[in-house]
Amino acid sequence: MKILLTGGAGYIGSHTAVALIEAGFEPVVLDNFANSHPVVLERLQRITGQTMALERGDVLDTHWVEDLLRRHRPVGVVHFAGDKAVGESVALPLKYFHNNIGGAVSLLRAMQTVHAEDPSTPPTLVFSSSATVYGDPASVPITEDFPRSHTNPYGHSKLVIEDMLSALCAANPAWRVGTLRYFNPVGAHPSGLIGEDPAGIPNNLMPYVTQVAVGQREHLNVYGNDYPTPDGTGVRDYIHVQDLAAGHVAALKTLLGGGESFTVNLGTGKGHSVLDVVHAFEKASGRPVPYQIAPRRPGDVAQCWADPALAQRLLGWQARHTLDEMCADAWRWQSGNPNGYRG
Ligand code: WQD
Repeated sequence: MKILLTGGAGYIGSHTAVALIEAGFEPVVLDNFANSHPVVLERLQRITGQTMALERGDVLDTHWVEDLLRRHRPVGVVHFAGDKAVGESVALPLKYFHNNIGGAVSLLRAMQTVHAEDPSTPPTLVFSSSATVYGDPASVPITEDFPRSHTNPYGHSKLVIEDMLSALCAANPAWRVGTLRYFNPVGAHPSGLIGEDPAGIPNNLMPYVTQVAVGQREHLNVYGNDYPTPDGTGVRDYIHVQDLAAGHVAALKTLLGGGESFTVNLGTGKGHSVLDVVHAFEKASGRPVPYQIAPRRPGDVAQCWADPALAQRLLGWQARHTLDEMCADAWRWQSGNPNGYRG
């Protein structure tokens, strides 16, 4: 059974492709390589021993997406494609509204058109959402019924797409949709062949830490140590990308097995501070991670971690990897690929 992965050559998409093959599915990768690299497909072949179908193009090209849906007839679609840098979204809001919301509209319209031609296969979608839709939570841990808000165009685009999916399911009950709210994905496949490869200066903590450890960056700037947290630095729910990938497989199996549409948090239910991550990474890598305390980053919240109970109840899924394992796997990827996929 084929599964279409839009943005399938990206960080989460590539790890999900491996997990899908291991679960007996046949991934089809759709990617325009705007924020990923063709080398990923070669790495996936080395990991899985299978050559994955690649559709190189843009999810915004609705007619092209309709055509590939007719050719491949996937039983499900996982929508990863989109831009995801919070800071960039503030500077370039139209890029985010166009690519993220426009891309989702294009994909959904293509799926609806092809479904109308052959109603035998219910349109089945897993959507890559984000804990960012919770804005600054009033308390932690966060459950799915917490109020949503947005503090930047990236988070706003995720929130709008969630609302589009709710309206679509209400209008057409044939749709089966699983919305996954990721917390903080980190780590890499244990082979060290695929991993996180941000373009330019990393926005996120873990890739910045790995680049300091490998000598690409001089030191880490810790954005604030005066938060109301145990050590004063920001606390987040870091989740191993392998657990995240397993969550996508569980979501697809639930929907394909006739389950109702759902929205769940994918997190560990544990919070770790910036300094917890620094110390765990130094232990895992054996490398120092020098840091300096810097001013708070605008838009950051003090604490954000998940209550993952609903995902466990609905999907039979829970995160299993520890922070130490996340750091060890991230280090194996970075130390083996100091320049990411650019060689
Ligand atoms: C984590 C902690 C920072 C970098 C964002 C998006 C979210 C998702 C993950 C896309 C915070 C601190 C960071 C650095 C630091 N993205 N930090 N120095 O902001 O929780 O979430 O990325 O899906 O949607 O909102 O993740 O890794 O940027 O920050 O001190 O150089 O690390 O202040 O406390 P964040 P992050």
